[in-house]
Amino acid sequence: MWNLLTKAARHLPAEAAHRVAVSALHYNLGPRPTERQSKADLSVRVAGLGFANPLGLAAGFDKNATCFNGAMGLGFAHVEVGTITPKPQSGNPKPRVFRLPEENAVINRYGFNSQGMHAVVENLCATASKRIGILGVNVGANKTSNDPIDDYRQAVAMLAPYADYITLNISSPNTPGLRNLQTKRHLADLLMAGFAGCREAGFEPSCVSTELRKKPIFLKISPELNHDDLAAIVESCVDAGVSGIIATNTTISRPIGLNGVYAGEAGGLSGLPLFDASTGILAEVASLGQNRLSLIGVGGVSAGWQAYAKILVGADLVQLYTGLALEGPYLPNRILHELSHMLDADGATRFDQIKGQITDPIVAIKHAVGLYERL
Ligand SMILES: Cc1cc2nc3c(=O)[nH]c(=O)nc-3n(C[C@H](O)[C@H](O)[C@H](O)COP(=O)(O)O)c2cc1C
Repeated sequence: MWNLLTKAARHLPAEAAHRVAVSALHYNLGPRPTERQSKADLSVRVAGLGFANPLGLAAGFDKNATCFNGAMGLGFAHVEVGTITPKPQSGNPKPRVFRLPEENAVINRYGFNSQGMHAVVENLCATASKRIGILGVNVGANKTSNDPIDDYRQAVAMLAPYADYITLNISSPNTPGLRNLQTKRHLADLLMAGFAGCREAGFEPSCVSTELRKKPIFLKISPELNHDDLAAIVESCVDAGVSGIIATNTTISRPIGLNGVYAGEAGGLSGLPLFDASTGILAEVASLGQNRLSLIGVGGVSAGWQAYAKILVGADLVQLYTGLALEGPYLPNRILHELSHMLDADGATRFDQIKGQITDPIVAIKHAVGLYERL
């Protein structure tokens, strides 16, 4: 039935289909995960938090924290809600999200449409007693803010009490100037603001959330960063005590030969065309980080081999968004089955046995594809 509904949703404009999916998950509708045959233990511990499996729903799907419990019901062990801005804002004019089905891709220029942090707190309070899984809260700056860095402090101060971890998103291509916060000159101030917000909320920003009053903070980066940029970001994060890095957000670049009526639309490209670049950046961050940071790999995952390859190069957790939008609600369960069989085929029983074992992304991808073909 869900396959049929997914096919029907493809006839709706992309943003309308997104709204329908959010409403369905708000009411907890969707297929339930099926039992796995494998003996592999998919649970992982990251930044002091226990995750039932490494797969999460990336930011941007549940922008206002209205459907994360329903998304967890599909099999995701964590959901990152947001991006949430301090003040409500409507985002860019419509249309602002486009499917490129022949490329397994999406282009979006939503521009942080957000109900704002006060409304989101109400949404989070309404579901607090039904919480399952780990909740990440992703924050950003208002488009017309006079002090974007202070927006991060305000949003963290307001939302930290409801989050298991916080993400500072400075990599959306759809808010002018936002990505400049990734430069060394601004990053220290940004991290300081995020940490100040956390302390205002009564929490100690921490690499690991071993104690109740500690809160892990992640930084989400773009795929358009060179080696020197990445090295500077990694060192700033380590120096500041950031828990980890999420690599990556959508790309503003367009691979040669990108097809489809909407290929020329402005915005961030996600899905399959982003897979190689985001996995390459992840591998580079892993090698620069030398296990000093936790890593979340995101970009172009719609099958087990893609998630497995990201873990092989160093991801602790893997997120996806576009795969779910294009393939429908069975996807997380299918990926979890594939991952557990791939662990079996690799002679491993837990992800910590394979994490970071292949540093070269091309070799990691080949290894993951090889295992996948044997399933
Ligand atoms: C329609 C859409 C909206 C998004 N909105 C956000 C957002 O608000 N904040 C954010 O950090 N990332 C956002 N993203 C980026 C995703 O979280 C993710 O980093 C990116 O799409 C790559 O993963 P994917 O290829 O699995 O989609 C959005 C992506 C899409 C497709």
